[in-house]
Amino acid sequence: MQALATPLRIALALVFLAIAAIGYLSAAQAQSVNPTKNAVSEQQLLQQFKTIRGLGSIPDTKSYTLEQPAGRDWRHFHEVTLRWISGIAILGMLTLLIIFYLWRGMVRIESGRSGRTIVRFNAVERFVHWMTAVCFIILALSGLNITLGRPLLLPLMKPESFTAFSEWAKYAHNYLSFPFTLGVVLIFLMWLGGNIPTRVDIDWLKRGGGMVGRDHPPAYRFNAGQKLVYWIVVLGGGAAAVSGYALIFPFYGTTIETMQQAEMVHGIVAMLFIAVMLAHIYIGTIGMEGAFEAMGSGAVDLNWAKEHHTLWLGEEGVLGRTDPSQPRPTVAPGG
Ligand code: HEM
Repeated sequence: MQALATPLRIALALVFLAIAAIGYLSAAQAQSVNPTKNAVSEQQLLQQFKTIRGLGSIPDTKSYTLEQPAGRDWRHFHEVTLRWISGIAILGMLTLLIIFYLWRGMVRIESGRSGRTIVRFNAVERFVHWMTAVCFIILALSGLNITLGRPLLLPLMKPESFTAFSEWAKYAHNYLSFPFTLGVVLIFLMWLGGNIPTRVDIDWLKRGGGMVGRDHPPAYRFNAGQKLVYWIVVLGGGAAAVSGYALIFPFYGTTIETMQQAEMVHGIVAMLFIAVMLAHIYIGTIGMEGAFEAMGSGAVDLNWAKEHHTLWLGEEGVLGRTDPSQPRPTVAPGG
């Protein structure tokens, strides 16, 4: 009994040890694949280093970045925040313009047409305006497709058609940025002289620009509202161009972080810019009688000019010449 007992004890001890070892190993294994624990350590890594990087063998060291929390913030901005900003700015402006039109209707030439016209914008000015405007409209539509195409257009089209359209829209967006930028620079240079703020603008603004009631606050060649449009075009166009070129030419003096910031600036500026230009297009078309002709034929009716830009007419020598050294303006019968 005694002789048999020793090997049995050894065997029992070995079995016990094996069970304990298996238990310990499985516990350790369970611990090493615990996903929650892993995620926490990944989070700690991100918090400490702001990025998780691997190793690579190609010269472009940027490609070694595997994870960066700023990327998630940026994606949220692009897919959620910017869509809200665009919806509020553009639909908000459209709603305001519709309400205003229903309430006020077209601002008429109160004294009627005189039948005589005065040149307001020459051919070069009109060419620059329309080149910039056409580029802007295509840039705006192709840009809106980048932000809103997926949720709004894709459900209405075949995926292949949406892809083809988006590809061409992106080419248009990239290449038209160049003539648009040129247009903004030319607008800045051509019309800077007439767009420096003066005291007259304060009075014009206080009187609501004559849009309310039958008031006609005096203005030089550009009134305060047009000066605002001018500076929004120059500064907004400038900001959109600089941030846009940072995206077209990636990593020339920029990092992933500054490119994400450039995309945010580009998106916000563009959406606000589009909203403002909707108001400009409204005034230039159905909002005001006689305004479109200024950029269409280049000449406006004298009574339109008297009602909206009386000080400019004075400068041009039509209402008593202010500077006799200047030649008389081109005033023609008919319109
Ligand atoms: C269909 C689109 C557009 C129409 C119908 C339109 C119409 C007009 C008209 C009629 C004027 C002359 C106003 C006056 O006699 O004083 C004007 C001026 C001007 N436009 Fe446009 N425009 C359009 C788009 C644009 C765009 C997209 C831009 C720039 C991105 C732009 C920039 C300007 C600027 C800076 C002025 C001079 C300041 C002012 O009068 O507000 N326009 N536009």
